[in-house]
Amino acid sequence: MCGIIGYTGDDERAVLDVLLDGLSGLEYRGYDSAGLAISNASLSVYKREGELSNLEAVLPEGLDGFAGVGHTRWSTHGPPSDENAHPHTDCQGRVAVVHNGIVENYAPLRAELEARGHTFESETDTEVVPHLIEEHLADGADPERAFRRTVERLEGSYAVAAVFSGRETVYATRQASPLVLGVGDDGHYLASDAPAFIEYTDRVIYLEDGQFATITPSDVTVTDERGQPADVTVRRLEWEPEDAGKSGYDHYMVKEIHEQPTAIRRCLGGRARELDGSVTIDELTDLETPSSVQFVACGTSYHASLYGARLLRERGISAQSFLASEYDADALPIDEETLVVGVTQSGETADTLSALRSANRAGATTLAVTNVVASSAARACDHTTYIRAGPEIGVAATKTFASQQVALAMVASVLAGEFPRSFVEGLRDVPDDVQSILDTSRARSIAEQYEDADAYFFIGRGYNRPVALEGALKMKEITYKHAEGFAAGELKHGPLALVTPQTPVFAVIGADDASEKTLSNVTEVESRGAPVVAVTDSPERVERHADATLEVPDTHPCLTPILANVQLQLVAYHVANRLGRSIDKPRNLAKSVTVE
Ligand code: G6P
Repeated sequence: MCGIIGYTGDDERAVLDVLLDGLSGLEYRGYDSAGLAISNASLSVYKREGELSNLEAVLPEGLDGFAGVGHTRWSTHGPPSDENAHPHTDCQGRVAVVHNGIVENYAPLRAELEARGHTFESETDTEVVPHLIEEHLADGADPERAFRRTVERLEGSYAVAAVFSGRETVYATRQASPLVLGVGDDGHYLASDAPAFIEYTDRVIYLEDGQFATITPSDVTVTDERGQPADVTVRRLEWEPEDAGKSGYDHYMVKEIHEQPTAIRRCLGGRARELDGSVTIDELTDLETPSSVQFVACGTSYHASLYGARLLRERGISAQSFLASEYDADALPIDEETLVVGVTQSGETADTLSALRSANRAGATTLAVTNVVASSAARACDHTTYIRAGPEIGVAATKTFASQQVALAMVASVLAGEFPRSFVEGLRDVPDDVQSILDTSRARSIAEQYEDADAYFFIGRGYNRPVALEGALKMKEITYKHAEGFAAGELKHGPLALVTPQTPVFAVIGADDASEKTLSNVTEVESRGAPVVAVTDSPERVERHADATLEVPDTHPCLTPILANVQLQLVAYHVANRLGRSIDKPRNLAKSVTVE
């Protein structure tokens, strides 16, 4: 979704740099327009449709000031345009506001304000905010009071920040939309996500729903809805500034694909023990074995949840996965022995949060499996476990998916109290296995061979079905080409009609019992003339049927999909790269979708 950055500090010349660095660090959240406002003797506001470079091109030399806010937008209300870009201002140009989320009651508020003579310049829901603030200022309220009284009138989800002409204070609040404060030595920051200011400070405060932040160059004050001081914890992030950079790679996505061995190692660290073949997750020691498990998730995380559910079922625990937007807690059997697991790398996906909240209301025990410490999902759930992948900037999820799979493999072991030694050993080897794929993959030449294909199909069975779906999702997200993933056995029940010599089929085939059947499905495809690329740990078994193979190391059959996925990520990346796509910021997509 949209990204917000705010800053106030001792050095007036620093404000523009901080805002621009922050915006470039946030572009992955939305990128159809960008803007900033800097408070100085008056209020300087610049905004432009398109990428950040369009905004940079119109900024005057020597722009400085006391404090500022910036915004990168993923449009909901009103198409991308200069006018609809944030910040939005009041009629007098005294306040500038940036907003992430949706003001659900904006239509009546706008009608009310227009009837009182306010002129609107955009089609956004956000613009009601500065005009409401303007009215309170006109009534004699000071900026803080005007800001609070305005927020009292908003319904919906929002992270909002405002700066006022001639003032060095930034005001902000949140409701169901992320906002994190940065505590620095020479100034203070706020942002939708910490990578926006990590190069300046690693000390953060995660704002809670309903809390208000007032930041000045010397102070950060957090208060509750009634204006009383709130208890806050200043945490130190373990991320390094280079985690947020490209480290010499052409794209964040390929950098993050190559970070998978490290991310997985971090996820396993202190949890999966080779010595005694056990798995422990400290955060989950007081979680009882549930009678059944329901997973809720979206996009890539949903695919990870399909994998997690299968692992649990195999260990005798009833488990199902639901697309969070389709989850209906009232129509499902739920009691306190039901565990509802929200899988969400950002911890902020609105559909997943809504599903988790409805599960809470229905009396389930809830667990968040997330990457972001103190995210909304972590706060909404009874239990949380972190996947420890580090910041992921590319919109297409890669290392977080790998870490989710590994984390869910451990969660399944913990819940079922069952740790087959070969499985734990296999888990410990996953980082090295992934590294060997990265070192030897032929994905680039496969991409070259098939970059002109009409469409791409991905098939897998059992444990390998979720990665077939994920392989197709990655391909469509970043190449804009038609791609579909199917359960291998379903191919003959319809999709086979689409198969032609111009539709390569990627078949994920492990060494498990199901692989013979998948091989039969491959021959069905082969006899219709479609090229087959087998992603497999046993190339000798498939080479008769496949036009090409992408090999993965031999491992426990439950872990093959974690490895196979790396090959599929690389194929999608190289096809997209050859086609010259905007890999890190694919059109129309956002990394963290905070609207339902
Ligand atoms: C968006 C992203 C996807 C992601 C999904 C769920 O659609 O573009 O890459 O898988 O949200 O995100 P979450 O943060 O909940 O894992």
